[in-house]
Amino acid sequence: MIYELSKDNLKISIQEILSLADTEDYELYDNILICKKIIDYKRLACTNNVYELIFIDNKIPEINWEKYYEENFCVRSNKASKEKELAGIIWKSLKTPKVKLRNSKSEFNFFFIKDKIICGKKVFERTEPFHIRRPDLRPGFFPVSLKPKLARALINLSGVKKGIIWDPFCGTGGILLEAAMIGIKVIGTDIDPIMIRAAKENFKHYNLKATFNVADARTEIIKCKAVVCDPPYGRRASTKKTEVEELYNEFLEHAYNFIDKVVIMMPNTIKIKTKYKIKFSTEQFVHGSLTRRIMILEKTNTK
Ligand SMILES: C[S@@+](CC[C@H](N)C(=O)[O-])C[C@H]1O[C@@H](n2cnc3c(N)ncnc32)[C@H](O)[C@@H]1O
Repeated sequence: MIYELSKDNLKISIQEILSLADTEDYELYDNILICKKIIDYKRLACTNNVYELIFIDNKIPEINWEKYYEENFCVRSNKASKEKELAGIIWKSLKTPKVKLRNSKSEFNFFFIKDKIICGKKVFERTEPFHIRRPDLRPGFFPVSLKPKLARALINLSGVKKGIIWDPFCGTGGILLEAAMIGIKVIGTDIDPIMIRAAKENFKHYNLKATFNVADARTEIIKCKAVVCDPPYGRRASTKKTEVEELYNEFLEHAYNFIDKVVIMMPNTIKIKTKYKIKFSTEQFVHGSLTRRIMILEKTNTK
């Protein structure tokens, strides 16, 4: 498959796919990623389009276009000036060609990147309206909640397809909403009962199921496939007076006893000490005084 990635944070866009495909085997040309493993691409947050790979070559090879053609076609390319010429090549090789420029059944895309030509047939375009689940549109709103698209990306970084995801610092449930939306079982806990009430309200609003309880992340034990969380930043979100770094380290030490994988987001000023191996780490600038670090932590004995 060919994945046309969002360029906002390319490292996250790539890792979302690799986590779900459970592979390191891929090719990358600018923001075009080619990976053989099939994944449920409809759940991706940071991929804009997905194509079935037709060819990757230095020139346009002989292709049986009939094999990929359905009802009508159009050609799209990052070199718009080439579209007519490319459409001509396909047209000549088809028995009964029909061009349809909008909503065509067979959209052939050609990416000219350095010395390579990558061609694919579009199979998916991301139209998921993440914005309709924006934190300020939910009944249980606190400004600490992150945007749904980023929340979905964090869920995907965990690679979890089935089983339970636990957010031990769930707040209003923003991360878990995006997991529940794609059918993953979720458990949320938070030290603040007001947050738990807001999370319950939010899930009710979207008619989604979850288990929520008041608990301290440093002592609670929940069996799950992975933890996905954004603990307090130490400014707006409440830390219940514990030093923030201490809270992170105590939680990670506790989690190491029973959790194999943790996807965690934090300000890049926080230094963590952990036995977990850092499988992936990237930073995302938010504003002058906040750059977030996003990490996948894994036990060394797991894959
Ligand atoms: C950044 S907010 C999480 C926001 C959340 N992702 C959302 O969508 O609303 C961090 C949360 O950690 C909670 N918290 C602070 N200390 C905690 C602890 N020791 N155990 C569990 N939760 C804690 C706070 O009450 C706060 O809701």
